[in-house]
Amino acid sequence: MARILITSALPYINGVKHMGNLAGSMLPADVYARAMRLLGHDVLYICATDEHGTPAELAAQQAGMDVAAYCDAMHDAQAGAGAQFDLSYDYFGRSSAPSNHALTQHFAHVLEAQDLIYEKVSKQVYSNADGRFLPDRYVEGTCPNCEFDGARGDQCDNCGKLLDPVDLINPYSAVSGSKDVEIRETNHLYLRQSALSDRLRDWVDASEGWPPLATSIAKKWLDEGLRDRAITRDLSWGVPVTDANGKPRAGFEDKVFYVWFDAPIAYIAATQDWAVKTGGDWEPYWKTDAGANDTQYVQFMGKDNVAFHTLSFPTTLIGSGEPWKLVDSLKAFNWVTWYGGKFSTSQKRGVFMDQAIDIAPSDNWRWHLMANAPEGDDAAFTWEEFAVSVNSDLANVLGNFVNRITKYTASKFDGRIPAGGVNTEHEAWIIAELETRIPALIAHYEAREFRKAMEQTRAIWAAGNEYLTRAAPWSLYKTDVDAAAVGVRAGLNLAALFGIIAQPIIPNAADKILSALGVPQSNRSWDFGDIAGLINALPEGTAIKAPDVLFTKIEESDIAEWTAQYGGGQDKA
Ligand code: 2FM
Ligand code: ZN
Repeated sequence: MARILITSALPYINGVKHMGNLAGSMLPADVYARAMRLLGHDVLYICATDEHGTPAELAAQQAGMDVAAYCDAMHDAQAGAGAQFDLSYDYFGRSSAPSNHALTQHFAHVLEAQDLIYEKVSKQVYSNADGRFLPDRYVEGTCPNCEFDGARGDQCDNCGKLLDPVDLINPYSAVSGSKDVEIRETNHLYLRQSALSDRLRDWVDASEGWPPLATSIAKKWLDEGLRDRAITRDLSWGVPVTDANGKPRAGFEDKVFYVWFDAPIAYIAATQDWAVKTGGDWEPYWKTDAGANDTQYVQFMGKDNVAFHTLSFPTTLIGSGEPWKLVDSLKAFNWVTWYGGKFSTSQKRGVFMDQAIDIAPSDNWRWHLMANAPEGDDAAFTWEEFAVSVNSDLANVLGNFVNRITKYTASKFDGRIPAGGVNTEHEAWIIAELETRIPALIAHYEAREFRKAMEQTRAIWAAGNEYLTRAAPWSLYKTDVDAAAVGVRAGLNLAALFGIIAQPIIPNAADKILSALGVPQSNRSWDFGDIAGLINALPEGTAIKAPDVLFTKIEESDIAEWTAQYGGGQDKA
């Protein structure tokens, strides 16, 4: 049994997340956490809302709310949405928690003591109308390179050039549209990432089991030469910058730490909060002098987060000179797209978690998004593909199997698991299938190869259908009830096995199946033992029922309705 710490990238506070966000970090982390628990590991799955920064301030302003009250409300909304999608967090914390303020300030102090933080003055765009410095992407103007109007301060969408907002011609505030902007000098703390370049490269080179996507992004940044980064901002909402005595740092009274400095630290702070709440001990997860070398730490995230997790956050941890645990396995995902275009929170393009749950049950989404996980490449969401996943994989392959065998048992075997008969070549065939497929399934989960794990799950369900076709107990029943009993008993045991392997992905349907078959919680783990025994595992004579409808099929009319309401192929971005 291993101790496994799992974190998924902290969802930003400014709205309930879209299905692409869910698919690229929280959902696979949950599926992995559930699978590892079933394998008997000691799992701690931590997540939190990422609450600081300009987007939080602006979203609160737009909602006409005080930013702290806005974050309270949105944290609850996101926790609720997570629960509706059955995300089995051990703790869902907040980056705005006092624990994270304290730890962020602690890291800044120890990094400064290690000479890895320094002050530097730079020029930034200040908006008089908004009364604030504007982050790069909130300044717009004419591109100095291609003269495109409406270039963003960080990058021109027309010519692709990376920009410095102070170079924009006719700059204006993207917050208010005001042209009353000026360039002001401002002093910030910088993290000397450059000093840790070699250490980081050695660490990335030594990493094992990261997808090429993650290592290639980390190495690209290292090859380009790591630049020092400002870790403070001219904002009021965030972690205050303090001096060594915990007093406001002189000259930084109106500044806070940059959201990307404090957010990953919140992985640790949320673990501390989990420990306070449960009476657990956080240090074996995070401190190598308290046993964290025996913890396996796995992070889940979208590709845009990789640089922060492979370079900036490790700089914070290593640079502190303290014995902090670094990530062991980093699972990065590409994008789920909306019909090939971008999901967009700001433009409300795509389907969001709170809408999705009204459209279809959590299990249907979980299966579809995991079966189409954006592992090798981006993966397009379409209503048509969603319908195929639900109708074909869930309703036809899994649902019909369970229905057919349980209903047949009810009508011909008094609703009890029958005894009698002897195994034939058909049972030998399915046992051989299971003997190769179950170990392969576990190996895919352990390697966090989710598409392969889903394919294997589906293949096991399909093998069960094939077995029933071969064994055909309904034909045998007419002449030899004992021979039919063999097929029915194996079929019922297969249905239980299908539920057991489905638990990480579709926990609700799996529970319905296992409850209908009378499988107690204590017999639902992935301790498969002798695989040949799996088709005879349920006690003979046990009363079973046919479960209620497991999956409702999606009709053409549903697709038409959803397309009309939420869009679809017509709004490629
Ligand atoms: O990309 C995002 O949505 C960020 N909020 C992820 C933060 S991950 C972590 F480091 F906190
Ligand atoms: Zn341009």
